Amino acid sequence: MAGVYDSPEYYEIAFSYRDIAREVDVFEECTRRYSRVRVSRVLEICCGHAPHMEELSRRGYHYIGLDRSETMLARATERSRLCDCRGEFLRATLTDFAIETPADFAFVALASLYVTNTAELQAHFNAMTDALQPGALYLLEWCVDFDPMVDVVDSWEVEHDGVRVRASYWSRSVDRIEQLYEDTLHLEVDDSGRQFTLEDKSLRRRIFPQEFLAFVRDRTTFEFVGWWNDWNLEQPLTGEFAVDRPIILLRRRP
Ligand SMILES: C[S@@+](CC[C@H](N)C(=O)[O-])C[C@H]1O[C@@H](n2cnc3c(N)ncnc32)[C@H](O)[C@@H]1O
Repeated sequence: MAGVYDSPEYYEIAFSYRDIAREVDVFEECTRRYSRVRVSRVLEICCGHAPHMEELSRRGYHYIGLDRSETMLARATERSRLCDCRGEFLRATLTDFAIETPADFAFVALASLYVTNTAELQAHFNAMTDALQPGALYLLEWCVDFDPMVDVVDSWEVEHDGVRVRASYWSRSVDRIEQLYEDTLHLEVDDSGRQFTLEDKSLRRRIFPQEFLAFVRDRTTFEFVGWWNDWNLEQPLTGEFAVDRPIILLRRRP
């Protein structure tokens, strides 16, 4: 079966339900409230086809996207050309990268903090320390497991220009001590009558809320700013309710 990230156009349709302009509004509101630096350079970790690039560029930011997939980056580059965004792209893994000029804001969307063990988590934050200006924010969407979803299938369907994509996502436990899970993203595509499936299986070490707070507290380079539900700064997480698309904000210490 072909991989999801080898066919970025169908991945793009499957995740097109997001309100990207609203998410960029949230970046700006976070910056207004909590950043210690003026933002001009924005770095996305695991950028894929770079869905936020056009909106960010329209608002005057310089976009830098990092991803390990050549095909996803080719799609991002093509989109950058079409919108005249002049995005900058880096092919690398999130545990081992360097950018020449540190960014003023960074984000990782859709639970894409793909680390498979604690050493990789630390390596990622070491790289991020150098990649961000002191005082800059790092926003992480759904990277902490508030509501572990194991053996539960989440499915949705999106139709766009005669292409119908039915997406399903599920996780299974691989190693309960290492907190390692295998996430499957399965797409059933109907492209004008041509039907096929695409699938990605990724290993991800889960990060639980209290260990995340302890992890950040132990690091000298980042501080915890806050966490909120559903990209809504009026909804701080309080613990008694289920979460949906939570965001977490860290700030690079001076
Ligand atoms: C769920 S997609 C997210 C894409 C995009 N950020 C979005 O919001 O639609 C995950 C992306 O992470 C990339 N990826 C997975 N593991 C990675 C790693 N270890 N280092 C860098 N990129 C990785 C994949 O190639 C894919 O493009």
